[in-house]
Amino acid sequence: MDVVELEGRLQKLADEAVEALSAVEEKEEAIQVKNRYLGRQGTVQELMSVMREIPNEQKPQAGRAINRCKQQIESSFEDQLKEIAERELQRRIEEETVDVTLPGRKTSAGMGHPLRQVERELIAIFDAMGFEVAEGPEIESDYYNFEALNFPPDHPARDMQDTFVLEDGRLLRTHTSPVQVRTMHAYEVPIRIISPGRVYRCDSDLTHSPVFHQIEGLLIDEDVSMADLKGTLTAFAKRFFGEGTKIRFRPSYFPFTEPSAEVDVECIFCAGEGCRVCSRTGWLEVLGAGMVDPNVFEASGIDADRYSGFAFGLGVERIAMLKRGIRDIRRFFENDVRFLEQF
Ligand code: FA5
Repeated sequence: MDVVELEGRLQKLADEAVEALSAVEEKEEAIQVKNRYLGRQGTVQELMSVMREIPNEQKPQAGRAINRCKQQIESSFEDQLKEIAERELQRRIEEETVDVTLPGRKTSAGMGHPLRQVERELIAIFDAMGFEVAEGPEIESDYYNFEALNFPPDHPARDMQDTFVLEDGRLLRTHTSPVQVRTMHAYEVPIRIISPGRVYRCDSDLTHSPVFHQIEGLLIDEDVSMADLKGTLTAFAKRFFGEGTKIRFRPSYFPFTEPSAEVDVECIFCAGEGCRVCSRTGWLEVLGAGMVDPNVFEASGIDADRYSGFAFGLGVERIAMLKRGIRDIRRFFENDVRFLEQF
């Protein structure tokens, strides 16, 4: 084959390719056509094999003819892509219309989680009684969570089953009571604080969650008695649950209070008859309380002969369950909007 014949065949190929490209409607199709001619096994490539037959002095001319052919196909391909994009834009402008008379989509305003709502109500009641809010860390040392609170070294509450212990020996606080000690260290008596926050225990059923919330209360002054504790908690219960609410104080034990009590509220799910939620007792335990043990005062450098005080720790979930009629504590933590929206 000589160069003239090659030029002729290349021109024919280029014309063919340009014609094929001008007929395509989709980008994918255009790419296929281009590859058919210019791809590694494309027709133009095939034709390059005849270069061997071209006399040497004609080779430069043949090379130029091949490049010309490739450029023609390439530029026709680019033009075609532009045209396809323009056609698509035009189609969308014509077909896709915006109906400006449609009502807008409402975004919901959102609201506080039911636990936060209840926590806020609780704080407001104690705030009105003159308690200030204090805070403490959720990762605690054994000292603040147990030792300074008069837990003997072998007390069962230190058992690994109840407490999440970190590798470095610190722990996730099991109650908000460590804030009592931190407050006694940081402030002068008289003290009157509440401390809301998250606590952790290895515990899970209808009324127990591994993560839950407590609000600690601590009041220290001269001449504070058990009557002040009972009066404060009774006033709180009546304000929060309503005048007719039945509550009871049961003698109990905590290492850091003496005497100690547990406070129950009548189960609203069975009106005191006994059901699954209250373990057939008719009562739901909502808080622990007592008079601050002199050993705790001593560990915090407070004169136990001069001062006395009371402390309490209430379970926010239990109180929220009673107030809002929620039977299963796990609902609070499942993030199911259908549940959360009800409050
Ligand atoms: C305490 O945690 C003491 N620190 C309370 C206290 C403070 C006593 C100050 C004396 C002075 P207790 O383990 O009983 O006590 O827990 C207190 C409240 O937390 C319980 O009454 C209950 O309402 C709630 N609670 C306890 N464990 C769980 C749990 N796993 N899930 C949800 N609520 C819980």
